[in-house]
Amino acid sequence: MAIDRCICFNLTFDEIQKIAKERDFNTVKELQIAGICSLNCKLCEPYIERMFKTGNTSFKPGDI
Ligand code: FES
Repeated sequence: MAIDRCICFNLTFDEIQKIAKERDFNTVKELQIAGICSLNCKLCEPYIERMFKTGNTSFKPGDI
């Protein structure tokens, strides 16, 4: 199964990437400060960091 979203905030990494681009965010921290995602269980956090590094928005558990 692909890992492609912040489950807690019900946002796909595609959607998060779009929001980040619109707001000129480059880090998970900026998304968290803005209250957009990655503020609950934080399981998505390393994947979103990876999204910023690679531009990918769908991952497998072994990708990080
Ligand atoms: S999956 Fe993103 S905070 Fe839980």
